[in-house]
This record gives sequence, C-alpha cells and structure tokens, in this order.
Amino acid sequence: MSESPDNFGHWKGTRTFVVDSMAEESRTVTSFYLRPEDGGAVPAYKPGQFLSFQLDVPGHDKPVVRSYTLSDSPSGLENGKLYRLSIKREPAPKDQPDLPPGAASNYFHDHVTVGSTLSVIAPAGDFFLHEDRDGPVVLMSGGVGLTPMISMLNHIVDQGAERPVWFLHGVQNGSEHAFRDHVRQLAETMENVRAHMVYAEPGPGDVLGRDYDAEGFITTQMLESLLPGPDCDFYLCGPPPFMKALYNALLGWGVQESRIFYEFFGPATVLKDAPAPTPVAADSVGGVEVVFQKSGVTVAWDGLQESLLVLAEAHGVEADSACRSGVCQTCACRLVEGEVEYTNEDAFLPDDESEILICSSVPKGKVILDL
Ligand SMILES: Cc1cc2nc3c(=O)[nH]c(=O)nc-3n(C[C@H](O)[C@H](O)[C@H](O)COP(=O)(O)OP(=O)(O)OC[C@H]3O[C@@H](n4cnc5c(N)ncnc54)[C@H](O)[C@@H]3O)c2cc1C
Ligand code: FES
Repeated sequence: MSESPDNFGHWKGTRTFVVDSMAEESRTVTSFYLRPEDGGAVPAYKPGQFLSFQLDVPGHDKPVVRSYTLSDSPSGLENGKLYRLSIKREPAPKDQPDLPPGAASNYFHDHVTVGSTLSVIAPAGDFFLHEDRDGPVVLMSGGVGLTPMISMLNHIVDQGAERPVWFLHGVQNGSEHAFRDHVRQLAETMENVRAHMVYAEPGPGDVLGRDYDAEGFITTQMLESLLPGPDCDFYLCGPPPFMKALYNALLGWGVQESRIFYEFFGPATVLKDAPAPTPVAADSVGGVEVVFQKSGVTVAWDGLQESLLVLAEAHGVEADSACRSGVCQTCACRLVEGEVEYTNEDAFLPDDESEILICSSVPKGKVILDL
C-alpha cells in the first residue's frame, strides 16, 4: 500500500525511509535517525505522535507492525528533515526466559543499521502536547515511556515558550537511563525547565545528585514537594503499574481528570481504582452486549471504555494492536454481526468491508466479533 508523498511530504500507506545514523542512548535504548529515500520533505508532527513500521522480521510469515514515538522536537533535526525514534530492546519476560524476545525491537537493534530501509506509516496519534494552553506542564515517564516527553520538552524549549515544565522520570538505574545528560543540561540552562530523576535501584556507579535525585518510585509526596500544586497539565507514559499508581495519585491530590493526558505503549489497562465492568452471561437480555466469539466471552458494553479494543483487553480477550489509532490495521477484526461507530474520523478503514478496527470503534448495538 505504498503511495508517493505530496509536496508537503504527507503520504498514505507506507513510504520508504533510510536509516541516516544511530546513537546509543543507554544500555537498552538506541536512537535511529530516518531520512525519506525519495529525498522529499517530511511532514511535521505534533510532539508526542508516533510512526508505525511494517517490518520483515526473519521467522515471521507476515510483516510485524509496531509503532515508535518520534523522540525529538518536530523542528529539531536539520529543521525537521529527519525523524528520530528511540527504541528499547525488549527481552523475554523475566519469569519466562524461554520465550522469544521482542520481535520488532530486537530486529531494530540486531538487523537495522545505517543505510537500512524501512517501510513507514505516517505520523499519527492523539497523545500530544496541547499548545493552546500555557500553564505549567508536568511530563512524567517511566522507562522508555520518556520518548514522547523528550519530544514535548524539546519542542517547548525550541519554541522559546516560557511555560514552566517539570520533567519527572523513573527508571531502573543509570545503565538504562536514556537522555540523562540532555535533560540535565536543559534543566541547568533553561529557567523554566526542572528535572527530577528517580532510580528504582541505583547501580554501584550511580551518584545521587549527579545521575539521580531520589531512590525508589515517584510518589505523591514527591509531587507535592516539587510542584506548585495540582493546577497543572500532566502527561503520563510508562508501564501499566506506573500509570495506574500515578493516575490515582494525581486524582487523589485533586488534579482535574481533564488535565491528565496519557498513552500506553502496550495493552491498555484500567487506570482508575473503580470496579471493572461485570461480564454477563451469553444469553443475557437487555443492554448492549459484545460477543467475542472465538474466546467464548460475552460482556456488557457500559459506554465507559474508549474502544472495543480496550473492552477486549479489560476482559482478558487476546487482541493484536500496535498504533491504537486507526493507522496500522493490526487490530482489524471480522465483524460477524452488528454495527460499530468509528470514534476516530481519521482512521484508515480496512479494504475488506467485513472487517473493523477495534482500536477506533465502539458498538452501536449488540455486536459479535471474530475474536
Ligand atoms: C503509540 C506507541 C508508541 C510507542 N513508542 C515506543 C518508543 O518510543 N520506544 C519503544 O521502545 N517502544 C515504543 N512502543 C512500544 C513498541 O511499539 C513495541 O510494543 C515494543 O518495542 C515491543 O515490541 P516487540 O515486537 O519488540 O515485542 P513483542 O514481540 O511484541 O513482544 C513483547 C513481549 O512479549 C514477550 N513474548 C514473546 N512471545 C510471547 C508469548 N508467546 N507469550 C507471552 N509473551 C511473549 C516478548 O519476549 C516481549 O517481552 C510504543 C508503542 C505504542 C503503541
Ligand atoms: S491498532 Fe493500529 S489500527 Fe488499530
């Protein structure tokens, strides 16, 4: 589904990019700088948005599709002529070391090198810096969840905006800490930028005050002592336990829910400490039911979940996803019965009309999905 870009560099489907250079940001995170092979322009993106990739990973019979955040300011690299991604190598889970390690991230780390070509789906995503607001911004990240925060931070600095920014980052230790010197340097030179780095388990070479500012996790007490108050815009990205803990800590502190913006890099989880929707029996009547046919699961649709994908995940139904924004088609699934409504008007709908994108749709009545 490859298509030529227009004069402004916008494209549909995939476009070939060449790896221009690479940089090691930490023991586990490497940055890849990409340039379009056709020599054309690249469209601007909003700080926080991502690219999606169709990768021919050895051992996989169809392309592996994954999304990676653009990790620099839109105007940062050669005035917006390059894209940068910063990718963490995903090992096998600690408790299941025999499983294969992450397919796409290890492909990037082991096979992609300067000069490699990549099939790229255009920038997308609705997690981005809201520039129409000018109050204080708090960028909170765990692990590689810092990539959108770096993009937002760099953008605020590049634009010369004076809004106060706090960059709060939690990571295992110094060996996994990407962009440390960059963030420290901004915090030292820019009056409106402050940084606070928290290591879960500092390594022997890590120095308090130089590499990190606190040991453990980001806590409510820490927020209360660092920030002017709950009246800020908060941006969150990190592993699910990090997101859940901080989301509830912020609500508990009195932050308005409408001022908390977040993104998951993997399956979404229910953030708020509230009872999960109750599964209903398959023959239940009344209300809207969603039937995940292959999994043998039927649940009530209570209108609280943002998409059918989130509903599936909340009930342990296995569903593939990557971009979660209607761009990559990974979540396409056959609609056996019923009708859905798209919540994302920019979604690229599947060519096969019997399929829907569950990341971007909600049921209009009872639906049966081939999941
Ligand atoms: C919007 C968005 C932005 C993102 N931005 C970034 C970014 O900037 N940087 C970044 O590094 N990542 C980012 N991600 C995450 C990225 O897209 C990938 O999800 C991540 O790199 C893992 O993909 P993978 O193919 O390497 O791992 P996968 O192959 O998807 O595997 C994931 C994990 O599952 C394990 N696994 C393998 N087989 C099994 C099995 N049978 N059962 C159970 N577990 C198994 C693997 O060992 C691995 O630990 C982003 C994700 C999204 C949605
Ligand atoms: S997850 Fe990419 S289109 Fe749905």
